[in-house]
Amino acid sequence: MIEDHFGEAAAARYDHSHDPEFEPAEIARTVDLLQRLAGDGPALEFGIGTGRIALPLAERGVPVHGIDLSEAMVRRLRAKPGGDRIATTIGDFAATAVAGEFSLVYLVFNTLMNLSTQDAQVDCFRNAAGHLVPGGSFLVEVMVPELRKIPLGQNTVQFADGPEHWAYTVYDTVTQDATCHYLRITGDGRGEARSIPFRYVWPAELDLMARLAGLRLRHRWADWTGAPFTELSTRHVSVWERPMG
Ligand SMILES: C[S@@+](CC[C@H](N)C(=O)[O-])C[C@H]1O[C@@H](n2cnc3c(N)ncnc32)[C@H](O)[C@@H]1O
Repeated sequence: MIEDHFGEAAAARYDHSHDPEFEPAEIARTVDLLQRLAGDGPALEFGIGTGRIALPLAERGVPVHGIDLSEAMVRRLRAKPGGDRIATTIGDFAATAVAGEFSLVYLVFNTLMNLSTQDAQVDCFRNAAGHLVPGGSFLVEVMVPELRKIPLGQNTVQFADGPEHWAYTVYDTVTQDATCHYLRITGDGRGEARSIPFRYVWPAELDLMARLAGLRLRHRWADWTGAPFTELSTRHVSVWERPMG
């Protein structure tokens, strides 16, 4: 059975993140692009979480449905203004089907890597394709694997450095498995540790998964502004389309 890594404690903290992805300008850029791709919609978000993106997208008039494993995350989405307008389904986005056809399916903020096997990632592409109208788009925002940061013989990249929060990823370059470890000092001076497994994945491998699902690459950008994807890009926003007819 697939494990839920976004239980009550993680959900309670989620919207207080200082990650740049939570900055209003970045959310606005994200929603601008999703709205353009969705047209009149509807849109389906895989891993909808607390509605960071779904709520502002729905506010622009795009009907949004979301799938998520975590009851705790979805409960927070529902409690927010406008949360009652968003349809949600509890389930695994690699396998769960919802009623309807969508002009856009999207999966942002590295959430594709929460699927920790290649099979699950392949299934996710098939599931996205199965929900799209002809001409519809599947958008994924995910990091480029950070392996160039790792000296030969080492396996760890630190990405947060205190004073009360430390985080690092341990990579297995044989299996493409990775685990993110988060350590924090909590308000009462105690410590808390949380570890989440990932599978890192290269853009070209995603293109192959898309082909297996009957989709073809339409765009690959470096960010939400549509900047060109280059050898220095640290993430990509990729869009595959379901061909017409
Ligand atoms: C990093 S959060 C992203 C939430 C939201 N998309 C955002 O951008 O803020 C990842 C979310 O994906 C959900 N998730 C992870 N793996 C999942 C899976 N296999 N099926 C459904 N939801 C999943 C988690 O429960 C969590 O809510």
